[in-house]
Amino acid sequence: MKKTSHNIAILGFGVVGGGVAKLVTDNSEELFKYTGKKIVIKRILDLRDFPDSPFASLVTHSFDDILADDEIDTVIEVMGGSHPAYEFTVAALKKGKNVISSNKEVVANFGDEFVSIAREMGVSYRFEAAVGGGIPVISPLLFAIRQNKMREVRGILNGTTNYILTKMFTYGDSFESALADAQARGYAERNPDADVLGIDASRKIAILAALGFDMLAKVDEIPTEGITGIRAADVKAAESIGHKIKLLGRCVARDGAEPYIMVAPFLLPSDSPLSSVNGVYNAIEVVAEPLGNVMFYGQGAGAGATASAVVSDLIPIIAYDNVNPIVPGFNKTDYSPKSTFDEFVSKNYIALPITAANKAREVFGDITEISVDGEFAFTTEGMTEKALADKLETLGISPLSRIRFL
Ligand code: HSE
Repeated sequence: MKKTSHNIAILGFGVVGGGVAKLVTDNSEELFKYTGKKIVIKRILDLRDFPDSPFASLVTHSFDDILADDEIDTVIEVMGGSHPAYEFTVAALKKGKNVISSNKEVVANFGDEFVSIAREMGVSYRFEAAVGGGIPVISPLLFAIRQNKMREVRGILNGTTNYILTKMFTYGDSFESALADAQARGYAERNPDADVLGIDASRKIAILAALGFDMLAKVDEIPTEGITGIRAADVKAAESIGHKIKLLGRCVARDGAEPYIMVAPFLLPSDSPLSSVNGVYNAIEVVAEPLGNVMFYGQGAGAGATASAVVSDLIPIIAYDNVNPIVPGFNKTDYSPKSTFDEFVSKNYIALPITAANKAREVFGDITEISVDGEFAFTTEGMTEKALADKLETLGISPLSRIRFL
């Protein structure tokens, strides 16, 4: 007899897990319309108990309760971190269960392995919520725009750092004071390193690169700079030349060579689409041929938005029996993006101590000076990373700041 329900288990009953349970319950009619099945939450795994929750009776502390339950069709992994999420995912897939994840760390590091096991087992591994929270961007990259030649994917992939930069630009805050405000509002964690050092964004751009660029970048080797070095003086300088600073993950195609991939703060013209993305919002801009530019914008975190993306992955699994999307990068062998970054070309903003002015004019030649109190700031023409490093070495003075132009 054909089953009339689709049974799920949720691993992790935090903000996202709670959001998934609520969405599946509140929107059961909408889900039924599209899937023709009732989605039933059978188990929720967490270390804690939730006596006051309407889902209290479903909570278990043992993953084996879920693994051994043959009635559970799909496991939703929203725990975060690599371990035990990796082990639980492999075990669930090998047991013939679909797995859906919002966990960018585990997708970026092991997505290729998961998709390959899922294919062998004839089940699905899907991860719409791993990049951009509630923004539908994985499915468009997999299906709606794959027929294009991809030129670039660039995005504001981290809401915490975008909030901090927005505060610095709107109120002239220092990085430290904007971070303290983000922590007070619960946007930044007590240990904010993964966000402010760009690590979270590097995991997300690695996933987008695997989808759009046939590349499997080793996350630890993606050239990554965070926003800890951005100063109030840089914000003033950027404003004086009509620009904003945004932390971007970028994957840029090259003819006949592996794409460039990076995470770093960039200077963007104030009227460009990504410049207008403020606060904790995320946005991903895709440049492709013949499509042109498209931008995906929305909430990059939060219970409801992320749950929406997680549950969207259930629909193709149930309604279309869509076993697995093709992720071209997941079939490649790892490559080290650092090896090519020396050739990357950009214009730069550089700030130096005022005493370095004459020597900098001599070494850099063709520059445009920016008026900044007490510092010598200027922009360079486009040059490779290697050429810039050589010039800075000749100068022999560490810059106070260096930020690339988009
Ligand atoms: N720490 C992440 C952010 C959460 O700030 O965007 C969503 O991945």
